[in-house]
Amino acid sequence: VKVGILLSGRGSNMMALVEAAQDYHVALVASDKPDAAGIAWARERGLATFTQSPKGIPKADYEAAIDAALVEAGVEIIALAGYMRLLSDGFVARWAGRIINIHPSLLPKYKGLDTHARAIEAGDAVAGCSVHIVTEELDGGAVLGQAEVAILPGDTPDSLAARVLEAEHRLYPQILAEFVRR
Ligand code: GRF
Repeated sequence: VKVGILLSGRGSNMMALVEAAQDYHVALVASDKPDAAGIAWARERGLATFTQSPKGIPKADYEAAIDAALVEAGVEIIALAGYMRLLSDGFVARWAGRIINIHPSLLPKYKGLDTHARAIEAGDAVAGCSVHIVTEELDGGAVLGQAEVAILPGDTPDSLAARVLEAEHRLYPQILAEFVRR
């Protein structure tokens, strides 16, 4: 099964997906940020990449370019990995049920940004990450798998994020492998 990964930055989840690729093949790594660290890494690994800044381009044209690159690469499933741009309803509908995302909270808690600060602020004992199907509702699609991480006394958003990120790197490849075999 050919997977396309969309990212905007560091790309550590993309790296984890690439390192664990057995049941799937990473056919394209795409970014809205041409200088994303994850893209440089993917290029060094010899992976096919596509970058296109959305600046000055109508959203529909921008998404059509990504769509064309994904289709050309034979992508069947899209894995979002720190892709910081909202996909339009039209794009999501076109790939309905075939886009997954990793989110750094135990959904349905803390959709959106600043998840770790919100979990600490709320006094939660447990944080974590979720892999879910992408639908038109932000961070709202069916959850495919989650991993829990304890919130420790003295945790800051950064220290908690680092611990959750390690869990993300284990969870995402496992859930993607299950998803492609389903
Ligand atoms: C991760 O925390 C992921 O859960 C969130 O964005 C971050 C991306 O990090 N969606 P990276 O680019 O994969 O290192």
